[in-house]
Amino acid sequence: MTTDECFSASHWGDTVTVSIAEFMSDIQAQHLTPRLTADGSYTFFSSEFGECFHSHHGAEQEARGKFVLPTGLPERAQQDDLTILDICYGLGYNSAAALDCIWQVNPDCRVTLVALETDGAVSEVAIANNYLHHWSQKVQHDLSTLCTERQLRTPTLNAQILIGDARQTIQPLAQGDFMADAIFLDPFSPPHCPQLWTVEFLNQVRHCLQSDGRLATYSCSAAVRSALITAGFQIGASAPVGRRTPGTVAALSCTAALPALSVQELEHLQTRAAIPYRDPELKDTMSLIHERRRQAQQHSALEPTRQWKNRWMSV
Ligand SMILES: C[S@@+](CC[C@H](N)C(=O)[O-])C[C@H]1O[C@@H](n2cnc3c(N)ncnc32)[C@H](O)[C@@H]1O
Repeated sequence: MTTDECFSASHWGDTVTVSIAEFMSDIQAQHLTPRLTADGSYTFFSSEFGECFHSHHGAEQEARGKFVLPTGLPERAQQDDLTILDICYGLGYNSAAALDCIWQVNPDCRVTLVALETDGAVSEVAIANNYLHHWSQKVQHDLSTLCTERQLRTPTLNAQILIGDARQTIQPLAQGDFMADAIFLDPFSPPHCPQLWTVEFLNQVRHCLQSDGRLATYSCSAAVRSALITAGFQIGASAPVGRRTPGTVAALSCTAALPALSVQELEHLQTRAAIPYRDPELKDTMSLIHERRRQAQQHSALEPTRQWKNRWMSV
């Protein structure tokens, strides 16, 4: 179906006919506001989560710098097959940047891509607005089909988007034989979406990673890093992109050569900020997850984070 075509829907008992373009812009107006970022790529502001989908420094450069490079995809692309888990697919930029990078190095590499996302409208609006134009025609074509069909099989790409709460959709993957070489962990920030940064969710994520695989996230929050460690990951810092703060890269093997954390970052992990989010049954509300952590912080004997901050400000 093209954006010029129409469909009928029932609205308060009356049948109305709207074009796909109108329908798309309705959705857009409802909860996704386009924002231009500093590298010329677009992102959205989500009124539901009160946050942008990407850093204002540049959405396209964030996808490559925070996710594709830290997971070592340019080097891994020499392999015949690669498996990627894209948690929080959103507009699809991380997957687009990954596929573009892999096929530039090795056009024959066969990629298995599983994406988790709660809101299928996000990638639909991104495709309708041609936001993926930074990447190759092949990537745009494949991801456009993936967006409408929710699955795709070509000689070089076997992909699916699992729509729903990632806390549930990840479970069959974690319990099955799915193993990713690279995992992109890209939820909204912990204050806005603590559900996807808990020890319990990251424990599910850990079961989806190959023994020599890499997970990357933009976050350097102490709560996120300590949750990764508690869930069984080794962690390191990834290079800052745009903003001053680094991201985090994680692996399972203790022999993995990960870029070391600084002394300041290590000390941050000994403060109350490092008390992780918990969600024992993987179904609690955001406010309950926040409240549980607030109470744990209140009763903690760890150093108050302000004290750590003041110590490093005077250095
Ligand atoms: C920061 S954006 C991700 C940006 C994305 N990686 C991209 O390249 O465009 C976070 C995404 O998480 C999705 N999301 C929020 N809660 C979720 C949940 N519980 N399960 C799965 N996806 C969720 C949002 O719809 C949004 O698309």
